[in-house]
Parts: sequence; structure tokens; C-alpha cells
Amino acid sequence: MKILVTGGLGFIGSHTVVELLENGYEVVVIDALYNSSIDVVDKIKIITGKDFKLYVEDVCNKEKLDEIFSIEKPDAVIHFAAYKAVGESVSKPIMYYRNNLVSTLNLCEVMQKYGCNKFVFSSSATVYGDPEVLPITEECKVGGTTNPYGSTKLMNEMILRDINISNPEFSVVILRYFNPIGAHKSGLIGEKPNGIPNNLMPYIVRVATGELEILSIFGNDYPTHDGTGVRDYIHVVDLAKGHLKAIENMKSGVSYYNLGTGMGYSVLDMVKAFEKVNGVKVPYKIVDRRPGDIAECFADPSKAYKELGWKAEFGIEDMMRDSYNFILKCKEDK
Ligand code: UFG
Repeated sequence: MKILVTGGLGFIGSHTVVELLENGYEVVVIDALYNSSIDVVDKIKIITGKDFKLYVEDVCNKEKLDEIFSIEKPDAVIHFAAYKAVGESVSKPIMYYRNNLVSTLNLCEVMQKYGCNKFVFSSSATVYGDPEVLPITEECKVGGTTNPYGSTKLMNEMILRDINISNPEFSVVILRYFNPIGAHKSGLIGEKPNGIPNNLMPYIVRVATGELEILSIFGNDYPTHDGTGVRDYIHVVDLAKGHLKAIENMKSGVSYYNLGTGMGYSVLDMVKAFEKVNGVKVPYKIVDRRPGDIAECFADPSKAYKELGWKAEFGIEDMMRDSYNFILKCKEDK
């Protein structure tokens, strides 16, 4: 089976390509290298000992996409390619809406032209907004997104649902990720954001290596067990495996799955776990809440277990160890 992976050199994409190759799938990657590096190609090949085809192209370029489909004729598509920085999406909404929506529209149009009817979409728990009940099930209300990035995820879900209504042959799996962290155990691939990181885990590792001075914890007055924000952190390798399960168990219609562990950890829990596992101090200070943040968010992942046979295997300590190992390895290689 041949799978086209858009954004296959990015953080979640690269780990998914590794899992696909290791499980015997033929893989074709389209990546525009906007937020990823060409070095990842060799790293994936080293990890897996397998080859795959790469097109350095933008999915928003429909003519190119058509050309790639005419050559490759994939059986299924996993669509990761998207802009993903929440803050940037607030200052550049047009860029976010154009990129994140046009790419999906192009893909769906070209897929239908070539009779490719299996689509896995990279969505986010952000579609639930500020959840009314916890843990979050797939039945929970969606909407109330607080930034253009989140809105593009929700709009993409609506677009895919409507395309399935117009063409029931077109099957869609929507995977709503909670907070992906960690890295491949080899330390060869992981998350390396450009500039100052916005997300917690990349920030913690850079404080631990001394590249950044101190972690700012955004608020300690939330109604959580220690006042800091609670999230459901999931190891990126577990997340990647969820995509294989989605492909293997795809049914007709549109299916929605939460990919999380079901466990909520606070910012302070994360700092303590990191220090314990890696034996390094992470200095922090408490600052004001970050606008748009919610207090608590964690998944009920039982639907993915029942229907896909998927559940997260890695624990918080694995995530801490692998995130740090990746950054240390990057520094060694410099
Ligand atoms: N946090 C800090 N200091 C930091 C960074 C984060 O205290 O320097 C806190 C946040 O306030 C929050 C928690 O750490 O309580 C996690 O923050 P992240 O930025 O790592 O993650 P978010 O939950 O805010 O956002 C993530 C993804 C988004 C996605 C969202 C909802 O980054 O893409 O989950 O699913 F939309």
C-alpha cells in the first residue's frame, strides 16, 4: 500500500513515516521545508534502513500536486502539512487560513480526480475550545476556538465532513491530538522549533541545556491540583502509531478519534518529572497567565482503543528522557 504523507519531514510527520516504513508501507513525502529540515530524510533512512520518495513542494500548488498524483497514484493520504504556531496565527490570520485550508482543498480535489479515497487528517484537541467536561470524549461539543490556527483545524474537519457527504466513497479519519512531546529513541528525529519555543516541552529542554535562562510558568492560580495548567502529554511515537491504526482500520464515513493518554499533568508536574528523570535542574518563575490558555485539558482515549486497537504505551518518564536525549544529540552533532 502506498501512502502519501504531506509534511512528512515535520515533528509528527517524520515519526509517522518511520512507523509506516517499518511496517512495510511504501511512502511518498511532500514537504515544503517551511518548518522542517532536509537532514531528516537521511535520519529516517538511518533509523529504518528503508527508502522513500520525497517531493519538495507546497501542497498549495495544485498543478504540482496533480503531477505528483499522476506519477505516484497513492492509495491513501495522511495530511500533516500545516502552519501550527498559535501566536503567529493571531498576527497572520490570512496566511494561516490560506495555507491550512487551501492545502486540504487541493488534496481532496486531486484525490477525488485520481480515485484516492482514504484520508487521515491531523487535527487537534484545540477544536474542543475550553472543555465543558473532562475527560474529553469525541462526543464533546466542538467550537469556541480562540485563535486562527485552531479555527483552521475545525474548518478542515467541517470541509472533510462535507466532502464525505457529497462523496460517501471518500473515507476520512480525523485524529485529534492532545500535546505531543518526546522523540524517537535513537535521538535522531524530534522537535526542534526555530527561535524561542512557544510550547512547554521544547522550552524546558532548552532551559535544561542552558540555552535559555529560566522557564516562565504561565499562571499558578488555575483551578487545578497545584494551580498550573494541566494537559495530556503524549509521546510522539505513540501518536505516530495511531496513524497506522487509523489506516489499517479505516471504515467508510468520517471517524473522529482522540489521541491522548487520558492522564493530565500540570506544568509543575512536568518540571519535576523532567528534573527527576534527567537529573538536571529547570529554574522557573511564575508569571501572568498566557491569554487564550485553558486550565485543564485531557482526553478520554477509549474510543481509539475500542475501534482502532490503539492506546498510548509510553509514560511521562519516557517522554522526558527522549525529549532531552534528542536535544543533547543535536548539540553533540553540531
Ligand atoms: N506553558 C508555560 N510556559 C511556557 C509554555 C507553556 O507555563 O513557556 C504552559 C501553558 O500555559 C500550558 C502548558 O504549559 O498550561 C502547555 O502549553 P503548550 O504551549 O505546550 O501547549 P498548549 O496546550 O497551549 O497548546 C497545544 C498545542 C496547540 C494545540 C493545543 C490544544 O501547542 O497546537 O495544545 O490542543 F492547539
